[in-house]
Amino acid sequence: MSEFKLTRYRIRVSESLRGPQQPFSAILLSDLHNMSYGEGNSVLLQAIRNEKPEAVFVAGDMLISEKPEPQMDVALALMDELTKQYPVYYVEGNHEYKVRRYAEAYGSEGDRFFEAIRSFGVHLLKNACERIDIQKMPITVWGLELPWQCYKRFGKNALTTAQVTELLGEPDEDRYNILLAHHPVYFEAYAAWGADLTLAGHLHGGIVRLPYFGGVITPQLRFFPKYDRGLFKRRGKQMVVSAGLGSHSIPIRINNPPELVVLDFT
Ligand SMILES: [Fe+2]
Repeated sequence: MSEFKLTRYRIRVSESLRGPQQPFSAILLSDLHNMSYGEGNSVLLQAIRNEKPEAVFVAGDMLISEKPEPQMDVALALMDELTKQYPVYYVEGNHEYKVRRYAEAYGSEGDRFFEAIRSFGVHLLKNACERIDIQKMPITVWGLELPWQCYKRFGKNALTTAQVTELLGEPDEDRYNILLAHHPVYFEAYAAWGADLTLAGHLHGGIVRLPYFGGVITPQLRFFPKYDRGLFKRRGKQMVVSAGLGSHSIPIRINNPPELVVLDFT
């Protein structure tokens, strides 16, 4: 893969909350899987710079959890570059989770990855939040570290709203709550918890996409995922799912180019 497309979503803030004084943009990165566009990811970095984003949100799976040595050098270099220019908010995906969790397979590679991105200044959100103001818009950015069964079971019932509250606490009532959560299948739980905007990835757009129909199969070999890519709405809450920038075990994309997502807040 040598090219990606740029996908732009307009994010309207509901009237009950304070929106931005001036429109601004942010970037959503997901599922890079250690992919490089140009030397040192120069093509990707330039595309990001062109948008003059106020923040970069990372929805996980920047590396590949290959055993015994995960592929993560490109992901680390990208985080190093991005943090020189932008605040970067990061939640882990299942690949980071595996590397972190299974020390018997990966040794200390998980620690090395997370220590490195922290040292660059990445805001790693492990069931935690940070409060920021962009263009006078009060935003709380949350990162949800999904329990492993949420990846294994894939089913809707593997994560309830009560579990999200248990992991994160209550959302802020008077601020715009952005939730970084790698797996989009639990949108109902995220929205019911109070996420005004969920940012996710994981399904790579459904790998093969049919016109008028959407994604056919996920990297986890599940057919016809509901939230494969795009902007979804539910009871006034929204979710943007990125098709991702890379791939791993099944390096195929049909009608489904890698994408860089730009969020235009108005
Ligand atoms: Fe993933």
